[in-house]
This record gives sequence, C-alpha cells and structure tokens, in this order.
Amino acid sequence: MFKGFTLMGYRVTGSRCLTVCLGFTFIMGCFLASLPIVPSETVNPRISATTHKKRLAIIVPFRDRFEELLEFVPHMYTFLNKQNIPFHIFVVQQKDSNRFNRASLINVGYLFSKTNYDYIAMHDVDLLPINDNLRYDYPRNGPVHISSPETHPKYHYDTFIGGILLISNEHFEKVKGMSNNYWGWGLEDDEFYVRIKDAGLKISRPENITTGTENTFKHVHDKTYRKRDMRKCYNQREVTRRRDRVTGLHDVAYKIHNTHSVTVDTLPITVVNVELICNKTLTPWCVCPEPPKVKKAR
Ligand SMILES: *[C@@H]1O[C@H](CO)[C@@H](O)[C@H](O)[C@H]1NC(C)=O
Ligand SMILES: *[C@@H]1O[C@H](CO)[C@@H](O)[C@H](O)[C@H]1NC(C)=O
Repeated sequence: MFKGFTLMGYRVTGSRCLTVCLGFTFIMGCFLASLPIVPSETVNPRISATTHKKRLAIIVPFRDRFEELLEFVPHMYTFLNKQNIPFHIFVVQQKDSNRFNRASLINVGYLFSKTNYDYIAMHDVDLLPINDNLRYDYPRNGPVHISSPETHPKYHYDTFIGGILLISNEHFEKVKGMSNNYWGWGLEDDEFYVRIKDAGLKISRPENITTGTENTFKHVHDKTYRKRDMRKCYNQREVTRRRDRVTGLHDVAYKIHNTHSVTVDTLPITVVNVELICNKTLTPWCVCPEPPKVKKAR
C-alpha cells in the first residue's frame, strides 16, 4: 500500500499527495521559465557596456551592532531605490579578538566585491542619510564625501572624510586602499585623506544641501550604551599620526571564515565574517593590555 513520502522536509500522505505534487511541478515550471535563455551581456557587449549602470557596493565595517543593522538595511533600500542606484550591502564583520580595524575591514570588503561592483560606499552603520539631495551616484571625478563636516552630527573639521565616503574601484586602487595599522577607534580616515591628496585626487561633497547637523542624517549611535575603544598603547599614538606608505590593499592579512546571504525584512544583504590577522611585531597595539584596575578612593 502507498504510504506517502517526504518532500522537502514535509511528510506527504494520502490524498494531499496529488495536490502537493501538482504544486511542486507548477513551481518548478515557473522556476525553469524564469531562467534567462541567453545571458543578456553576451547579446551585444558593445551596447550593454554603454548602458551598464555602475553598481555600488555598500561596505559596512561591523562588529556587534545588530540592532543598528536592522534599522540601517531597510533605511538604505528605501533611500537608494528613490535614486535608482543598483547596489548591494556587504556587512564585513570582524570575527577575531583583536581591536576593531575599520580600515582593514573596508579593504577586505572591497576585495570581496570588486569583481561585480564598480564603486564602494564605505559606510558607518549608525549614520542614516535622510536628505534626498545626498546623491550616491558613481563618483567619476574623485571621491565624494557624503557626510560633510557641515552636516555630520558630530565632526566638523575641514579635512574630515569619515562617516560615508564614495570612491570608485579605480581610485581606491590608485590610493592602494586604506592603511591596515589602525586598530581601535579613530584616525584611519584622516590617514586616508592624506592618501587621496597625495594621489592628486579631488574630494567633493554634495552641493546645495540646505539641511544641517541636526537634520541631514539620523545618528543612531548611543554612546552611553557603547563606549568607543579610544585606548592608545605601545607606540600607537606616534605611528598612527604619520602617513603610512607601506600597508594597504596589497597586504591586508585576513581569512574569510564564511559568508551568509541573509535578509532583513525580506531585503537581501551579504554578511562576510572575517578574521583579521595582526602582525604583533609591526602593530602590537592590535591588542592593548588591560588597563590596571584603579581602586576608587572613597
Ligand atoms: C546648486 O545650485 C546652483 C545655484 O542654484 C546651481 O547652479 C547648481 O547647478 C546646483 N548644483 C547641483 C549639483 O544641483
Ligand atoms: C611581521 O613583520 C615583521 C617585520 O616586517 C616580519 O619580519 C615578520 O616576518 C612578520 N611576521 C609575520 C608572521 O608575517
């Protein structure tokens, strides 16, 4: 006697069998019909090359900011779909016990995305653009700093280029990526500013923005809840104040442990889990010794 069977984890028995089988056949039919007959790029490479819209990889250096990510992803989809920008979000998560290294994570994110994308946005996860005049178009003429000092909620010095910066693959290669020496919070963007200047590239900022520090971005960072790692140990302070002419894209040391295609509210993103490898001879400050516990005098 027919006892039923198991289909994709579901136990199917008796009269439900026919319904399920027909349903399955229908779904497979639809799937096959949806496959492209000829890959569109091969039809006429000349035409597709000129009509190809530049693709943006949003690189989010990341560690333990899950709630901020849940807000970031739907926000960026809504924001960038209005601008008709083809993009994908790469969350590059640091999975080792060294201090956070934003710049190395960006280097890794770039290397991971560069074959399929034409430019990157290095993007803080806690800074959400809310003014639609902030355009994320391909930065043809040089890096575009989206979160300018006039509009960033917190940083207002002229040479500030942190927060959100767009740069083409071509220009990111030209400046040799970012320095890998910056473990812990801060200064890697200031070093990157000097790299860009040294390469003779001009940084531009959005024009005609009439909003200010309060209403151009939503800043979701809660500093009382999450302290920044501002420690400086060994000769970190001295080394990280200098321009780094040695490290960059070519020597970022890492292993990709795994990648996950996940969705946030049905919106796809890619999570890349990265182990950054620290050479402690070169940058001993990738791990700072615990500060001595100071007993409070009462
Ligand atoms: C900014 O405004 C000026 C003056 O109204 C205009 O000439 C210029 O094209 C605008 N720039 C952009 C990028 O919209
Ligand atoms: C670390 O850097 C030093 C100095 O450049 C080098 O001699 C050494 O081989 C490096 N160690 C590793 C494990 O790469």
